[in-house]
Amino acid sequence: MSGFVINGGKKLYGEVELQGAKNSALPILSATILTKGDNILYNCPELTDVDACLRILRYLGCEAKEQNGALVLNCGGLCENEIPDSLMREMRSSIVFLGAILARTGYAKLSFPGGCELGPRPIDLHLKALKKMGAKIFERHGSIVCKAEKGLKGAKIDLSFPSVGATENIILAAVLAEGTTTIVNAAREPEICDLCDYLIDAGAEIYGSGEGVIVIDGVRELYGVSHSIIPDRIVASTLMSAAAVTKSSITVNGVIRNHLSSVIPVFEETGCKVSFKDGNMNFSAPEKLKAMPLVRTMPYPGFPTDAQAPLMAAASVCDGTSVFVENIFENRFKHVGELTRLGADINVQGKVAVVNGVKTLYGAKVEAQDLRGAASLIVAALSAEGETQVSGIEFLERGYENFEVILCSLGADVKKI
Ligand code: EPZ
Repeated sequence: MSGFVINGGKKLYGEVELQGAKNSALPILSATILTKGDNILYNCPELTDVDACLRILRYLGCEAKEQNGALVLNCGGLCENEIPDSLMREMRSSIVFLGAILARTGYAKLSFPGGCELGPRPIDLHLKALKKMGAKIFERHGSIVCKAEKGLKGAKIDLSFPSVGATENIILAAVLAEGTTTIVNAAREPEICDLCDYLIDAGAEIYGSGEGVIVIDGVRELYGVSHSIIPDRIVASTLMSAAAVTKSSITVNGVIRNHLSSVIPVFEETGCKVSFKDGNMNFSAPEKLKAMPLVRTMPYPGFPTDAQAPLMAAASVCDGTSVFVENIFENRFKHVGELTRLGADINVQGKVAVVNGVKTLYGAKVEAQDLRGAASLIVAALSAEGETQVSGIEFLERGYENFEVILCSLGADVKKI
């Protein structure tokens, strides 16, 4: 198990480039299955989740290679439509391949995405929608078999919850389907818009992405294009938390301000100053952070659930009590126990976590148990007095590109072991 050794209490300074968004890269990599010819993806982050995606694409018969810092993907040679359990288990979000493989080949077999650190990860909304589009779905021995021999048909899909993954799978199933698909209560995340922008460039007819209703008119063919992945708003939120807990001023380059519209006010309430110039964010923290306002995680444009853990680490050293309500996932407070080992004072009741800010955190051995929890522990360790050992860094590497290098370039004392 790889780990970080962090000597906390050091101020950060300087500037860093923000990486491409993991949750945009994954569905776009899946979408290349639908295209003819070469796709060139720029700003794709180097992450273990992206590597897992590329392994799946190569297994399916696609070409995927690095070229001058970009990814070149050509799925003309696709000859498989089953993803083996071993590859499915590497990444929970592999379910995003379902819609694309089914739309391209009329058949798809995947194993159920394993539960993950955040609790059960149901896919009922995905399957219900594909059935409405004409897919026949069989579940046996932990696998899902989907058939649409006559192709998929457009349908009106009402989502009971604006699921990001379900919205993505429906879009991927609909762009080559016969007729029109309307998604009501669609997810509005920036990553959905990025996926739609890529598909529209490739020849798809999609209207309303980023709104609650998305309309897709099926077309006959899509062609490979060049596309640059949007920046990662959750990594940006994490860097803001790191600067807040170390009372630092840093600049993060390549930030889309709108993507952080529900995160910035939370930091401003603590006394941090956030300004933008030409797409670069200047962030500076006061010597003493005031408590955060009530933070309730919600579908976009509400406060992002993925930023809850990193910001809770910052709340741990605010002056006063902060309250977090996790409305999206059942089990997303796994980092609380570990933050407590560092001296944080946090009480969890169901989906509510009450954080009583403390003056100082103290270094200790802590263990990450999920991706954003790992980021949370690292943020807390940057503030803690003395040495902290964070194990379980393989979780972090699913979503944060060279994070120890980024933090060291800002003046932190982080060593990877
Ligand atoms: C995406 O997961 C992201 N992952 C998650 O980021 C993110 O936390 C989540 O959206 C919410 O924003 C990727 O994009 C790869 P959902 P996804 O479907 O698609 C329930 C990270 O840290 N649900 O919007 O799985 C589900 O159980 C990761 O980068 C159903 O009940 O999220 C959850 O409670 C973690 N039935 C809620 O909806 C379904 O069929 C949100 O899930 C689908 C989802």
